[in-house]
Amino acid sequence: MSRPEIDDVTGVETTGHEWDGIKELNKPLPKWWLWVLYATIIWSVAYWIAMPSWPLVADYTKGLLGYSQRAVVANSIANARAAQSQYLDRIAATDLAGIKADPDLLQFALAGGQAAFGDNCAPCHGRGAQGAVGYPNLNDDAWLWGGTLDDIHHTLNVGIRSGHPDTRDNAMPAFGRDELLEPAQISDVTDYVLSLAGLDANTEAAERGKEIFAEQCAACHGEDGKGDTELGSPNLTDGIWLYGGTRDDITDVIRNSRSGVMPAWDGRLSPETIKQLAVFVHSLGGGQ
Ligand code: HEC
Ligand code: HEC
Repeated sequence: MSRPEIDDVTGVETTGHEWDGIKELNKPLPKWWLWVLYATIIWSVAYWIAMPSWPLVADYTKGLLGYSQRAVVANSIANARAAQSQYLDRIAATDLAGIKADPDLLQFALAGGQAAFGDNCAPCHGRGAQGAVGYPNLNDDAWLWGGTLDDIHHTLNVGIRSGHPDTRDNAMPAFGRDELLEPAQISDVTDYVLSLAGLDANTEAAERGKEIFAEQCAACHGEDGKGDTELGSPNLTDGIWLYGGTRDDITDVIRNSRSGVMPAWDGRLSPETIKQLAVFVHSLGGGQ
């Protein structure tokens, strides 16, 4: 047996391995490191036994503790459902004013309404319900079809020109396309509408337009142009425009009419969801 060789430079024993004159020193791993390694090996074996770990052909080893992430998720979903159904049952049984008056239910309805709004309404009305040309802003207090809880709830259920048997419906005639008014009359009545909203208008033309308005428009928009929520005819004096407030925009509506369509949600969403949506929309700031 040869004596272990000591390296001259470091004074450490070598292993006897040598490559091209370079010798390997014998420096074992530190003890603490080895113990940690052994501990992790023991831990892993214990873990295999206790927890689901090894895939088998069609199954896997379940482990003694029987833990399953699937079961944990299923469980928490079931808990959330149970907690919700308690609220949903109460929403079903409570009228809109009652929901508004109960802080607990109100909070639930607002959260549920907001979520349902994002899924179903935001594509047309915008994320913040701010609307766009042709799609009303639901935050202001200008309402086509009324802004009470019951009005909004009814609008949601039956829609607007939606094809639902009870839909909210009213069609403004296309005064230009259907030649109900001469182009000059349309121009005059446009001036009158501009003047109603306090915008720049030719005074003489507006004076002539006033008569046309009384004959052709007042039945829906009212003598004073303030609109009628029974008929879904917008207030023309408030400076809030569904289709834009320039002269061209206004002339275009008078010529061609628009008849915006909003789907009916009755049958598409649950009654509880529609109630939550009504409460949410009503809370946006413009509810009456
Ligand atoms: C396909 C587009 C579209 C979708 C989706 C839609 N709306 Fe509408 N909504 C409209 C249009 C267009 C009008 C205006 C109709 C009109 O001109 O009278 C309207 C009108 C309304 C009104 C009446 C506003 C008023 O001033 O009286 C309410 C309230 C409303 N929407 C809420 C909702 C809610 C809540 C949802 C989601 C459940 C929704 N809308 C989804 C297009 C849509
Ligand atoms: C039969 C009822 C009816 C009559 C008559 C009628 N309107 Fe309308 N008008 C409406 C309705 C409903 C709307 C909303 C249309 C929509 O949402 O598509 C509207 C919309 C408008 C708008 C757009 C308002 C906005 O906010 O962008 C203008 C402008 C307007 N009407 C002017 C007139 C003028 C001027 C006349 C007469 C020449 C007239 N209307 C006659 C029902 C009527």
